Amino acid sequence: MAVLSIKENVFSVGAEHWDRKLFDEIIPLPDGTSYNSFLIKGKSKTALIDTVDPSCQHILIENLKKLEIKNIDYIISNHAEQDHSGAIPEILKIYPNSKVVTNSKCKEFLKDLLLIPEEKFLTINENDTLSLGDKNLKFIFTPWVHWPETMVTYLVEDKILFTCDFFGSHIAKSELWANDEKIVYEAAKRYYAEIMMPFRNNIKNNIEKILKLDIEIIAPSHGFIYKNPDFIINAYKDWISDNVSNNVVMLYVSMHGSVKRIVEYLTDFLIEKGINVLPFNLTVADIGEIAISLVDSATVVIVSPTFLTGAHPLVYFAVNLFNALRPKTKFISIISSYSWGSNIINSITEIVKNLKAEIIDTILIKGYPKESDIQLLKNLAEKIFQKHNALNLF
Ligand code: FEO
Repeated sequence: MAVLSIKENVFSVGAEHWDRKLFDEIIPLPDGTSYNSFLIKGKSKTALIDTVDPSCQHILIENLKKLEIKNIDYIISNHAEQDHSGAIPEILKIYPNSKVVTNSKCKEFLKDLLLIPEEKFLTINENDTLSLGDKNLKFIFTPWVHWPETMVTYLVEDKILFTCDFFGSHIAKSELWANDEKIVYEAAKRYYAEIMMPFRNNIKNNIEKILKLDIEIIAPSHGFIYKNPDFIINAYKDWISDNVSNNVVMLYVSMHGSVKRIVEYLTDFLIEKGINVLPFNLTVADIGEIAISLVDSATVVIVSPTFLTGAHPLVYFAVNLFNALRPKTKFISIISSYSWGSNIINSITEIVKNLKAEIIDTILIKGYPKESDIQLLKNLAEKIFQKHNALNLF
């Protein structure tokens, strides 16, 4: 991205990765991503907050040249993952007097992951401050968003909180500020769902911590920057709350049409009951869309054909993802379609039993759904209705 000014002597110097389509070799990036990096010119010292992915380090270096930066005193590393830290070795080559400022956990990761030598570090403790002359940086530890070493940096005089992944979104952008709230909300929710959802409780604690600060701007290291911090903080408060919506997420694969018919029957029965249905054919579904749907849906129904003796491999993949993302799902139902034998119910129950959800019904259907099976699906829809009703979701 071009060099953009955020406040006096505070600049955005990061990079947009417009054509990146995958993160961690699994997460789809329909809108690319960005690696925000920020340069703060104090009266006596200069600090760089986070760097960029190594694939984009030439952009960061160009931006620093544009600003005619001859010296960087401090490279603040809020998080050791390489999309923010990966350019540190190159920056250290260009600015050899720089110190990498971070907490002790992050330091150990950076030494392991990027082979940065011990003498390059300045290790800080929680709530330490670092003076740049007329500007001061304060460090607040926010562990497990989404690694154990994550922290945020507060620029005291300008009231800017640099949050790295926290409140971020995977989107390449032409404008820095979060002006279009619809686009911003969708991108931030997708990011929360894919990256942050398993750490709901940690996020709760960390939000309480940062709310003690007087924040005017939240500047994450992915996506848009927030002039209205309440917008993203309130969205997070909603996502991490225990509140669920009157939604049923249906995860399915159909090999020869029986499962498809089961899904069609159940979808109609649920809609007739006033329940929103989000069906995902796992052969074509975007896993990011599934993750977003899991953020606040009350119920998940898994429907699989029998593949050998177990579930279809794509169903196992989705169920393992569901388990790993640890959403606040309240109810789960498992439906298996088979011809001569199936262990689907047991094998899927085994995977999801760590989730704090109630398994409300399991249904085994032999071949194409018949009248008696259709009645079972109708009963399941009624049971889901009763459960949602008991939670006042209507
Ligand atoms: Fe954007 Fe956890 O790195």
